[in-house]
Amino acid sequence: MQLSDMKIIITGAGGGMGAHFATRVVEAGGQASVCDLGEEGLKALADACASLPGKLHHQVCDVSNEEAIGKFVDWSFEQMGGLNGLVNNAGLLRDGLLVKKDRNTGEIIKMSREQWQLVIDVNLTGATLMVRDVVAKMAGEGQSPGVVINMSSLARYGNRGQSNYVAAKAALAANTVTWAREFGKFGIRVGAIAPGMIETPMTRGMNEKARNALVAAVPVGRVGEPEDIWKAVQFIIECDYFTGRTIDVDGGLTM
Ligand SMILES: NC(=O)c1ccc[n+]([C@@H]2O[C@H](COP(=O)([O-])OP(=O)(O)OC[C@H]3O[C@@H](n4cnc5c(N)ncnc54)[C@H](O)[C@@H]3O)[C@@H](O)[C@H]2O)c1
Repeated sequence: MQLSDMKIIITGAGGGMGAHFATRVVEAGGQASVCDLGEEGLKALADACASLPGKLHHQVCDVSNEEAIGKFVDWSFEQMGGLNGLVNNAGLLRDGLLVKKDRNTGEIIKMSREQWQLVIDVNLTGATLMVRDVVAKMAGEGQSPGVVINMSSLARYGNRGQSNYVAAKAALAANTVTWAREFGKFGIRVGAIAPGMIETPMTRGMNEKARNALVAAVPVGRVGEPEDIWKAVQFIIECDYFTGRTIDVDGGLTM
């Protein structure tokens, strides 16, 4: 598939990597229909894309809301005059140990059900319902070829303090295989990317010491940039022989 032919939904594009991916698609002459939780980042992105060759369409949509997803997918199809791609990018963190002992009081503290559920609702259930509705639309409207890209994470291999996020990101990588097998007959490929540590609002708040320790462990010696991950997105879109795999783009951190 060519970038200039893309009519692609990108979730969580009000900032970070999603905004970067959308800009690259529109720069190449394609169309992107993007969503996020709030209007502000989407408006800034729309302004930045206004003079580019392609088109950007934007709407507020909470991917943890099933009804909102259905409406956004239908709206995107109408705006773009079709739909042939999805970058399932929206995500959030609510890190914490599953069980910890308070240093001062010795009290045992458990991760709350809410802390678990929010991350699962957005990063896994929301992402899955987005794949379901996008693929249903593409298959129902005879849109082929098509491509779905899931944003997993190096956390898919397991990471201390991230039980909720690990569960979501590992499931997305595993279901990339499931969905590649299921959707091949519709002419739809499915790939995933598992980024290492990338410079975005998600990682900017990280404590300096933890950040330096992490960077020291990255064989290429630096934090990744959204452009590093865009190169993998572009590869999955353009390589018609790629499906069912997760690409680790982590500077070698998880070798
Ligand atoms: N930055 C990293 O180091 C890193 C590493 C591995 C994986 N990832 C994954 O890459 C993706 C993009 O991450 P990022 O670093 O750009 O993060 P980010 O926080 O900068 O951007 C994520 C976007 O998703 C949006 N979002 C959150 N909940 C939403 C919801 N319910 N509905 C719609 N939008 C919602 C946020 O508002 C935000 O704009 C995420 O799935 C993240 O888990 C990031």
